[in-house]
Amino acid sequence: MNLKDCHNFNDFRRLAKKKLPSPIFHYIDGGSDDEVTLNRNTEAFNDCDLIPNVLADAVNIDLSTTVLGEKIDFPLFPSPTAMHRLYHHEGEKASAKAVEKMGTIFGTSTMSTVSIEEIGKLTKGPKLFQLYIHKDRGLTDNLIERCKKAGFNSMCLTVDTVVAGNRERDRRTGFSTPPKLTLGSLLSFALHPSWTINHLIHEKFKLANIIHMTDKGSSIDKSIIDYINEQFDPSMNWKDAEYCVKKWNGPFALKGVMSVEDAKKAIDIGCSAVIISNHGGRQLDGSRAPFDQLSEIVNAVGDKIEVILDGGVRRGTHVLKALCLGAKACSFGKGYLFALAAGGQKGVEVILQKMKEEIYRDMTLMGCKSVKELNKSKIVFR
Ligand code: LAC
Repeated sequence: MNLKDCHNFNDFRRLAKKKLPSPIFHYIDGGSDDEVTLNRNTEAFNDCDLIPNVLADAVNIDLSTTVLGEKIDFPLFPSPTAMHRLYHHEGEKASAKAVEKMGTIFGTSTMSTVSIEEIGKLTKGPKLFQLYIHKDRGLTDNLIERCKKAGFNSMCLTVDTVVAGNRERDRRTGFSTPPKLTLGSLLSFALHPSWTINHLIHEKFKLANIIHMTDKGSSIDKSIIDYINEQFDPSMNWKDAEYCVKKWNGPFALKGVMSVEDAKKAIDIGCSAVIISNHGGRQLDGSRAPFDQLSEIVNAVGDKIEVILDGGVRRGTHVLKALCLGAKACSFGKGYLFALAAGGQKGVEVILQKMKEEIYRDMTLMGCKSVKELNKSKIVFR
């Protein structure tokens, strides 16, 4: 199996599984507790159906939309996710270049393995920075200032990860960063020689944005659960979020908002967007799926703030369904991380191209000439 055999999420997932040592595959693939939320995130899209209009002269369809102040070629972008160097030796260099080529937003994580400054030089495309508030509050100011200098366009603060979710797959596999070659994981690393050799001969794994402030998780093997629980600040509150919004003073999203109440507070503190997300089912298991919660949030605040849907997106029709219910755009994490593992920069380009083509084809079949035509009249719950 190679990249040519990858037509959809499941194909990329299968190829990534072949290429990655199992602790790393399961780190991407897994959710928390019983993975109920992880599975529901995608299943939720199947509880409703699209209603197409025919004979609609649907040619030259405009897929573009504007989100977080940036016009993008189609209404989907990769969620900011951590530590791309684990999945492919070129790490965020590969994913950032692919995303720029495909004309959408690149999200860089606080936990990136390529620095803010390098990403700034590498891509002229729209750049979103994802902030985690560490206990060391000096880091927050430092990261925001550096993003301004490096030409980032927008910022999001992740608010659903004040402690780590219970990711039992990671406990079982002994997943750590940098990857630890233990007796237990040795077989898996030995069975994936090309990943292992690339990992060893290329640039050393480091949390490039924060290594100067803390070497925890950069040079010492550490479980991600321990890293989050030791470093992230569970006492962060609305005042802290407001501080970040003001300090950034540009397009700002709260990522991980699930309640109407919190979406309203996001408006009060000056956010321009909320990203409805449960962290890909990796945090609170039993949390409602973003798609299930979308209408309530859009109905309450959709005219005052951009609503972005993150979680469970695997198909073009999922994006269409979210847009019908009022989302401005969607983001996805696992989809492009499996593609990165499967084929580096090319892999990410291919998944984004496939998703764009799906969205275009689905719009044609729906009889819609632009994303603005997607609305509630075109979707029905069973
Ligand atoms: C995770 C964090 C690091 O989901 O975003 O693993």
